[in-house]
Amino acid sequence: MQTAGVEQIVNRKQHVVEQYGEWTAHNIRLADNVYTISDQIRGDEVLARRVLQIVSDVLKNPLSTARILDLACLEGLYAIEFAQHGAQSVGVEIREENLAKARFAKEALALDNLNFVQDDVRNLNSEKYGHFDAVLCLGILYHLDAPDVFDFVHRMAEVCTRCLVIDTHISNTKEVSYKYREREYWGRFFTEHEPDTTLAEREKSLWASIDNVKSFWLTRPSLFNLLAHAGFTSVYECYNPPVWQKFEDRCTLLAIKGEPQEVLSAPSLLAAASKDWSENSLLGESPRVRSSGLRRFGRILPAPVKSFVKKLAG
Ligand SMILES: C[S@@+](CC[C@H](N)C(=O)[O-])C[C@H]1O[C@@H](n2cnc3c(N)ncnc32)[C@H](O)[C@@H]1O
Repeated sequence: MQTAGVEQIVNRKQHVVEQYGEWTAHNIRLADNVYTISDQIRGDEVLARRVLQIVSDVLKNPLSTARILDLACLEGLYAIEFAQHGAQSVGVEIREENLAKARFAKEALALDNLNFVQDDVRNLNSEKYGHFDAVLCLGILYHLDAPDVFDFVHRMAEVCTRCLVIDTHISNTKEVSYKYREREYWGRFFTEHEPDTTLAEREKSLWASIDNVKSFWLTRPSLFNLLAHAGFTSVYECYNPPVWQKFEDRCTLLAIKGEPQEVLSAPSLLAAASKDWSENSLLGESPRVRSSGLRRFGRILPAPVKSFVKKLAG
């Protein structure tokens, strides 16, 4: 594929904008001094740097040998970035307005190793899409309702051979629980669309769910458990490279599909290993902090009470 001339790119971009509206999020350099949005950094580029670094750090082989799947790819930034590094990249997106912009950028950048597919991510399976070294689940998990969200995580595990990067909102409160494949998952609902909106109205909200009026946000423990149940052997939260702002209910997680290992020095762990995170296990201060509080409190107590407190503090 040949790179189009700058003037041609600018003209074609104008056509896309007239037909589908301005780009809403993904700022991509198309040619010298030609960007989808602006020559200033807009924000999503920072997450792109993080995701690119994670995947390159984790895959054993160079990016140019990797197959990458970008789910709910919006205007294509992440799929395009990986394709520019030589990866075979596939972006899946449901909305025509978003896809048209992604496809235009692919052509402007002459990326033969990139494919955009119009589909619902809930249709993901290995028969249809094959397998991928890295699966990107950025800004989509929290747009799905239960039980679709549980099914979706299992489907991502099915197509993933090495790593899954999730950038998502999580629920900091356990309000509702669901049973899926005999396990219980906690979270809360989030309103995507007013219930009386038509499908056509929902379609116009370019960043939202496509049809479900509410989504189910998992708590951290439930999300960690779900990833383990789906077959990911370890899960990490990313702090570096930094993004501009860290919200309490937003995180970038890396889930790895590796070989489950046994601790040979503690065979009895085998039975305990399948124990899930409990919903309360990620809350509160550590016993060390609690005990140092007790020690401080202990200093002002009479001697017999003091020795009891000392015992408690350990
Ligand atoms: C918040 S945006 C995030 C986009 C992009 N991954 C990112 O991180 O910048 C959510 C995207 O998911 C798409 N989407 C929502 N529901 C979908 C579905 N069921 N199947 C495919 N795409 C969907 C929307 O059209 C939108 O592009």
